[in-house]
Amino acid sequence: MIRKRVVGNWKMNGSTAVIGEVLDQLRTERYGAEVSVCVPAPYLHLAVDKLAGSPFQVGAQNVSEYGDGAYTGEVSARMLKDVGCKLAIIGHSERRRYFAESDATVVGKLARVLEVGLYGIVCVGETLAERDAGRAEAKIESQLAQLHTLMARGAGPDRFCVAYEPIWAIGTGRAASSEQIASMHEWIKRCLGSSYAVLYGGSVKAGNATEIMSIAGVDGVLVGGASLDVKDFGEICRAAG
Ligand code: 13P
Repeated sequence: MIRKRVVGNWKMNGSTAVIGEVLDQLRTERYGAEVSVCVPAPYLHLAVDKLAGSPFQVGAQNVSEYGDGAYTGEVSARMLKDVGCKLAIIGHSERRRYFAESDATVVGKLARVLEVGLYGIVCVGETLAERDAGRAEAKIESQLAQLHTLMARGAGPDRFCVAYEPIWAIGTGRAASSEQIASMHEWIKRCLGSSYAVLYGGSVKAGNATEIMSIAGVDGVLVGGASLDVKDFGEICRAAG
C-alpha cells in the first residue's frame, strides 16, 4: 500500500520560537504516513536543522519560475534544494489570487522544481461561484491542462502530486463533503492518470481527518491552520496511518 502524505502549510505564520517548539516535538513522533512541513522561507534552514535525522521532510511554500540570477526577492529551486528542502508547494490559491500566478507560471515553477529533483505539490481548486455554476470540473481540468507538457517529458507520479483545495473550504472551517472530495479526486485522476497522488486541502482538522483520509482517491492532506498546532497536527498525521 502506498503511504499517505500529510503536508503542513504554515503560510505566513510562525517564528523562531514557534518553529522550535513544534518541530522539537514533531521530531520525537513516528507515523505511518509521510509527513512534511512547509514553513516560511526565512525558517527553512532552521526547520531542516531541527528535523535532521528524523523521517520528516521540509518543504517550501513557493519557488521562483526563474533560475538563479537578477530576480530581486525571488528564491530559486536550486536554493531550496541546497538548504535541504525536499518539496515545494506550487500555485496555491493564495498565490494565484494575491500574486497573480497563472497556470503558465505554475507550470514554469513546476519545471524548475523537477529540474533540481524536488517533489512538487501543484494546487488546484475552484471558487464557490464556479462550483455553484457547475463549472468546478472544467476549472480544475483547465488548471491541470498545461501539466501534460511536463508529463510528456517524463514528470511521473514520483515527481509531483496535485492538491485539490476548493477555495471556499480554505480557512473557513467548512471542509468539502466526502462526496465532493471523492468525485473531484476521481476527476483529477481521470485528467492526469490514476497513478498520480491527489491530496485534499481545506479546513482539515483533527476532528475530520480520519473521515477525509478514508475517502476513495484521497492520498493525503494539505493542512493549513491545524498544522501550527502540534497536538492537532499529530492527530491528523496519526489519522493518515
Ligand atoms: P486550512 O487548513 O487553514 O483551511 O488551509 C488549507 C490550505 O490552504 C493548505 O494549503
